[in-house]
Amino acid sequence: MGSSTHTSDAPVAHPLVLGIESSCDETAVALVRGDRTVLAQAIASQEAEHAPYGGVVPEIAARAHAERLAPMIAKVMSEAGVSLDDLDAIAATAGPGLIGGVMVGLVSAKALAMAADKPLLAVNHLEGHALSPRLADAALTFPYLLLLVSGGHCQILAVEGVGRYRRLATTIDDALGEAFDKTAKILHLGFPGGPAVERLALEGDPKAVPLPRPLKGSKEPHFSFAGLKSAVLRASESCAHTDADICASFQQAAVDCLIDRLALALDTAGPFPALVVAGGVAANKTVRAALETFAAKHAMRFTAPPLALCTDNAAMIAWAGCERLAAEGWRAGADFAGDPLDFMARPRWPLDPAAEAVRGAGVKA
Ligand code: KG4
Ligand code: ZN
Repeated sequence: MGSSTHTSDAPVAHPLVLGIESSCDETAVALVRGDRTVLAQAIASQEAEHAPYGGVVPEIAARAHAERLAPMIAKVMSEAGVSLDDLDAIAATAGPGLIGGVMVGLVSAKALAMAADKPLLAVNHLEGHALSPRLADAALTFPYLLLLVSGGHCQILAVEGVGRYRRLATTIDDALGEAFDKTAKILHLGFPGGPAVERLALEGDPKAVPLPRPLKGSKEPHFSFAGLKSAVLRASESCAHTDADICASFQQAAVDCLIDRLALALDTAGPFPALVVAGGVAANKTVRAALETFAAKHAMRFTAPPLALCTDNAAMIAWAGCERLAAEGWRAGADFAGDPLDFMARPRWPLDPAAEAVRGAGVKA
């Protein structure tokens, strides 16, 4: 990092970026420096507010973000001993996500940027996930093959550089995290479902329940999990299996789909030196282990961010801001415009604008 004109005896300057994340049900704030130091961060989960509904309720989420965000920003800044004047930019998730929540974070960032006369960086939440492994792993260089698996997204991307993403696959119906959450809901395991399903799966037999592997073997490079979820519902209603067996078999079916679709992506767009997984489902140990084996088989390095960086957080948003500043030749003291203050929050914002639209998670058929 640093500018190309930097000489070896001068200290390298790194930008200091405040990051704000509010696109789903985590309110998060972080201060990150371009040398990969996370100075301070805070995250407030809304799990308790949404749990009675078995999913995230957008209106409740937006209100909770509005209530919590400002004090959290103040706390993170004071913990790090940083004033607005010390910042080089203010980054906030500007989409995709639940629009009310995104607006709370983005408008707060705009107000701070305007008050402090600092550049605003409107960050794509998916770009935050896509670049987060590089915050933890300085040796991870472009290009890499990224599996992004969260509650809202299930994509395979070729990450070729900052701002250069090629979508190789996406889901035509549910995201994988959503399928985990729905499985948990069917089995009354609580919300969020992923960790609960993973826990119960430890006690079950992954071969016990015959479940489909939607699109497995298909040349269509996408994912589909709606059929798997319906099969879980039927298995549960039949009362022929234990919940643990259903969880273990569901998880195995999901992993088989991931690996099959990754193999197709490699066939059509590979090879890649590294495989990276990001998003909330990357917390799942069975998923990680399968990916690790797959990467080894294809002579790829495998890396996954630490768990706290996998699920939604603000360090990844601040880091995406740092990456963008570095890519655009940021230098200490030089003027940097950033994004306009009328940048609109975007409920949908594909990382790869050239990718063909498919129905996908979050889009009503
Ligand atoms: O990335 P994330 O925090 O938020 C979104 O942007 O969606 O991902 C949350 C999703 C939820 O669907 C949650 O159930 C899933 O990640 N998840 C897991 C695990 N931990 C979280 N899925 C499977 N196994 C887990 N251990
Ligand atoms: Zn996310």
